[in-house]
Parts: sequence; C-alpha cells; structure tokens
Amino acid sequence: MAEYKNIIVTGGAGFIGSNFVHYVVNNHPEVHVTVLDKLTYAGNKENLAGLPADRVELVVGDICDEKLVDELVQKADAVVHYAAESHNDNSLEDPTPFIQTNIVGTSVLINACRKYDVRYHHVSTDEVYGDLPLREDLPGHGEGPGEKFTPETPYRPSSPYSSSKAASDLLVRAWVRSFGLKATISNCSNNYGPYQHIEKFIPRQITNILSGIRPKLYGEGKNVRDWIHTNDHSSAVWTILTKGKIGETYLIGADGEKNNKEVLEAILEAMGQPQDAYDQVKDRPGHDLRYAIDASKLRNELGWEPQFTDFSKGLKETIAWYTENQDWWKAQKEAVEAKYAKNGQ
Ligand code: NAD
Ligand code: DAU
Repeated sequence: MAEYKNIIVTGGAGFIGSNFVHYVVNNHPEVHVTVLDKLTYAGNKENLAGLPADRVELVVGDICDEKLVDELVQKADAVVHYAAESHNDNSLEDPTPFIQTNIVGTSVLINACRKYDVRYHHVSTDEVYGDLPLREDLPGHGEGPGEKFTPETPYRPSSPYSSSKAASDLLVRAWVRSFGLKATISNCSNNYGPYQHIEKFIPRQITNILSGIRPKLYGEGKNVRDWIHTNDHSSAVWTILTKGKIGETYLIGADGEKNNKEVLEAILEAMGQPQDAYDQVKDRPGHDLRYAIDASKLRNELGWEPQFTDFSKGLKETIAWYTENQDWWKAQKEAVEAKYAKNGQ
C-alpha cells in the first residue's frame, strides 16, 4: 500500500472534495492536505471549518494557473483532483467555464504531475458513459451482461458537462500511456449528503420545502440515478489512491438505483408533506435516462465496501443537516430559484 504524506486536494472546498478532506483528517493522521480551490459559487470555506490548521491549508487559486500549480505540485507527493464545474444544468446555459476548468485545468495539473513525477488521482463521473435504458426495457432487467456501466463501457457523454469530464479522462489516459504519468481514474455515480450545493436535486428539494416552495421534478421523474453517500465515495477514492494499480480505471457505486420520483416522494414523506405536494416542470434537454454502476472491480480487486448503504437513514440525516444549517444555504436560495424559474424549472 502506497503512503502519501503531503497531498493536494483540488476542489477541496466543494461538496465531495471537502468530504474527502474531512475523511483524510479523521482517518489518516500522518497526512497533510493542501486544498487548492478557486472558491467559485460552489466552493465554501465553511466546508472546512474546524479542521486543524497544522493538517489542512487552503490555497485560494485556479487549477488553470500554471505557475501556482507548478509551485504546489513540486512540494507534494500526490494530487487528488476534484475541482470542476459540476452542474449539468449550468453547462446547458454556458459550456465555456466547463471547457476551461474541466479540460484545460486538468491538463495543467497532469503536466505538473508529469514534470515532478507526482502520483495523480482523477475524480470523474459515471456520466462519461452516457445513459442506459430503464431496467424494465432490458432483457436481464438491469442484471444482464452490459446492463450496468463497467470500466469497459464505451464513452458516450451527453451534456457539455459530461463531455468535458470525458475529455479530461481521455487526457489522463493519454498522459499515462505516452508519458508514464502515475495516474488512476475513478468514475462515481450520484453523491448525496451534507454540504451539497442547493442547485442539485436532493438539497434543492429539501431547501424548497424548508423555504415554503413546492419541490420541482423534471418531467415525469422516471430518470434513474445510482445514489451513493459521499462518505463512501471518499473511502473509495482513498482506497484507489493507496492501493489502485497505475493506469487503471475504477467505477465507484453502491447499488443505490432509484428514480427521481421515488427520491422526491421519500423526501416529502420524511419531511411530513403530502406525496403529491410538488410541481412537474420542464425537463432537462438531453436528460440522461438511467445510470447504474458495476463496482465489482473495486470491490474484488481492492477490497472496498460501502458502509453508508441505508438510503432512507442517509436521507433523513441529510434533511436534518439542511434543517440545522440554514445559515449555510439561506443567502443563496433566492438567486438559485430565480435562475431555475427563468428557465421554466
Ligand atoms: P462542486 O461543484 O460542489 O465543487 C467543485 C469545487 O471545485 C468547488 O469548491 C469550486 O470552488 C472548485 N473549483 C471550480 N473551478 C475551479 C478552478 N478552476 N480551480 C480551482 N477550484 C475550482 O462539485 P462536487 O459535486 O463536489 O464534485 C466534485 C468532483 O466530483 C467533480 O470533479 C465532479 O465531476 C465529480 N463527481 C461528482 C459527483 C456528484 O454526484 N456530485 C459524482 C461523481 C463525480
Ligand atoms: O452521476 C454523477 C453526476 O451526478 C455528477 O457527475 C454531477 O456532477 C452531479 O451533479 C450529478 O449529476 P445529475 O445531473 O444526475 O444531478 P442533479 O442533482 O442535477 O439531478 C439529479 C436528477 O434529478 C436528474 O435526473 C435531474 C433531476 N432533477 C434535478 C433538479 C435540480 C429534478 O428532477 N429536479 C431538479 O430540480
């Protein structure tokens, strides 16, 4: 098992990146973390509040800044790359920042890691594989060969967001093969948990209810996502960083398929609302139908197991977190909803 003492976590002030920083601080006392984060609308210093200053340093900066990245990477022994523009709906409004951060930013990081021979882990998404038919339309009902995403599934991204992530994955693969970059890639399914930006599905609906706004379901809510608690994503990334084979891709998922209507009804029930107390709104253009992960390579080869698999419990805890931490999201709510309303959503 590889040991790293000084790691850079890009995007470590965002939702999943900050969860990973907490995970490392709590579980690996020998490791110092430098967070490199631009603090865009999605980044928040508060996500790192309370972490010891001798363990975690926040550098506010852009992954596209070659000079800054060079200075930081030469002092590190691993980079875990989370920073991204991450929201599909935003990418449909304006793809430009997605190209810049997700593609150009990744190229800056892998060039620096190549130069200093630093270990690199690339955090990506299952969306690079496009979408799958609904289970009921498949001969094996979702359990037959090729009916879930595997590391061999061909890339077929649908949105500007997912295509920019796919492009970044391909850069990493090419840098491994052409330049011997010491890299691994992980493609994870939909995360949920505390500190997720309120533009995203689950926190949007929870904070809508807390704000007296009716939840908003795109179309009929048939689209399926494979939900995983963000704590399980963090343990999986740590496992791949320390035990993964260079050049390999690992898929991360915890068998959490649910359609959006089911998830919304679970939120409504947990928050004491009638099951039909929501609005159906305009669907997302090009909306991916279903994601599903086959994580057997990660489980069988690296011995990883998810721990937070009770979705109903995780959802209740997430609802409690947004209820108790209204200062964290309240100031942004009006602007987020105004943007959606302008778009008929
Ligand atoms: P997020 O939007 O919550 O956070 C992104 C973070 O990156 C923010 O802190 C932001 O300030 C920072 N950032 C953005 N542009 C930057 C730049 N140019 N330089 C430095 N920092 C910058 O995103 P998230 O949901 O936490 O996702 C993190 C990563 O995980 C992304 O790479 C995403 O593609 C991937 N991922 C997300 C999910 C999910 O369900 N959210 C699932 C699989 C993979
Ligand atoms: O699969 C991994 C991906 O999951 C990550 O790569 C992305 O960064 C992350 O944002 C997430 O993408 P999705 O597009 O699946 O997540 P989002 O929360 O935007 O939407 C989840 C589902 O809910 C999707 O089918 C659209 C639907 N939706 C979303 C919103 C915001 C609604 O029905 N209503 C809404 O208000």
